[in-house]
Amino acid sequence: MMFPAQLKVLRKTLHCRNIVCCLPVLNKNSYSRLVLGIETSCDDTGAAVLDETGKILGESLHSQTEVHLRTGGIIPPVAQQLHRENIERVVQEALGRSNVHPSQLSAVATTVKPGMALSLGIGLEFSQRFVRQHNKPFIPIHHMEAHALTVRMLHPVAFPFLVLLVSGGHSLLAVARGVDDFLLLGQSLDVAPGDALDKVARRLSLTKHPQCSTLSGGQAIELLAKDGDRMKFPLTTPMGKSNDCCFSFSGLRNQITMIIIKKEAEEGIEEGTLLSCVNDIAAATQHTVATHLAKRTHRAILFCKANNLLPSNNPTLVVSGGVASNQYIRKALSLITEREGLGMLCPPAKFCTDNGVMIAWNGVERLREGIGILSPNVDVYYEPKAPLGVDMTEEVRAAGIKLPRVKLEIPS
Ligand code: KG4
Ligand code: ZN
Repeated sequence: MMFPAQLKVLRKTLHCRNIVCCLPVLNKNSYSRLVLGIETSCDDTGAAVLDETGKILGESLHSQTEVHLRTGGIIPPVAQQLHRENIERVVQEALGRSNVHPSQLSAVATTVKPGMALSLGIGLEFSQRFVRQHNKPFIPIHHMEAHALTVRMLHPVAFPFLVLLVSGGHSLLAVARGVDDFLLLGQSLDVAPGDALDKVARRLSLTKHPQCSTLSGGQAIELLAKDGDRMKFPLTTPMGKSNDCCFSFSGLRNQITMIIIKKEAEEGIEEGTLLSCVNDIAAATQHTVATHLAKRTHRAILFCKANNLLPSNNPTLVVSGGVASNQYIRKALSLITEREGLGMLCPPAKFCTDNGVMIAWNGVERLREGIGILSPNVDVYYEPKAPLGVDMTEEVRAAGIKLPRVKLEIPS
């Protein structure tokens, strides 16, 4: 037997939904280094094989976006069924394209938290069967940790750095101090920015727009905003009075819905018909989301400076998650980082949205550090809700940092 010999005496405890299990951890230098990563936490079935340097040997991705656009949003059992139908093929494709046999893998890394329960379950069930069949170590992955670390596959960014993660399921600001060491400075109090953009896009019926029929809500808003005038619909930036780094997007969504209802009445059209002013509404929406993200990030930077949480040499803001592929939002954030003397790094769009590569890379990072590597026969449970790191949101609020006035003039 290969694994008992490699098991460290060290045992870590993992809290999974009130169950506390004792987990053996494998020795960090006892095998060669190719990692298969598997992602199914939301609506993308992704797999990739990476070597230890971050070279992508092969990858495969099945996106469910078009199906969910047709059904008007993600229906969890539908997402689950699509993951079930595709996971075997996606993993085989990634292995085939990399010319790697399962026996050559050093470990399998899979997203187990946070995410949609039914979706996480498919990836986890598949992975546990796979690692047992091939007798391989298993590395459970936190989806947001993976988004935060992806950048290190492409640039040599040293810890600590500030990270803004903005996706369909999350928005958070954190200081990344190590592979599994994060200080959470702020997060969304209600919905995520991607979710708000998706719902605004749906309320505007953008799938009926000839240029947007296959685009996600966020992509459609970005495209239409290019030809829009944001000044036609001045919106209130959320949480103007609270001096913390948390986010809120549901009030903004309501403001926009009220505008849409008013314009439909003015134009004499029913819900489900395209308004003539979709570009202007898209531009106003995108600008307000960008402004909100920029202001919270600005406060996070000032908090980090006041508490020496970032290096004085080359401090960096990393921005990732699906919404980070938005160029206008990137520009807004870069105005803040330039002003405050930080560098800004964003992975290319295809690595900002969910994929198997980022999960495999997180597996490589954990393998290198010898963190959270489990024997194949350990039972692992998925966790739909899972915070990232140590919660500092109260400390940030207590600091009550006021922002200087910054005018965000962003060419669209
Ligand atoms: O990270 P991701 O692929 O999945 C989650 O973990 O949620 O992010 C998907 C989200 C969707 O809400 C989508 O509308 C948004 O990212 N998104 C964008 C853009 N591309 C994708 N939002 C704004 N601008 C974009 N270009
Ligand atoms: Zn994601």
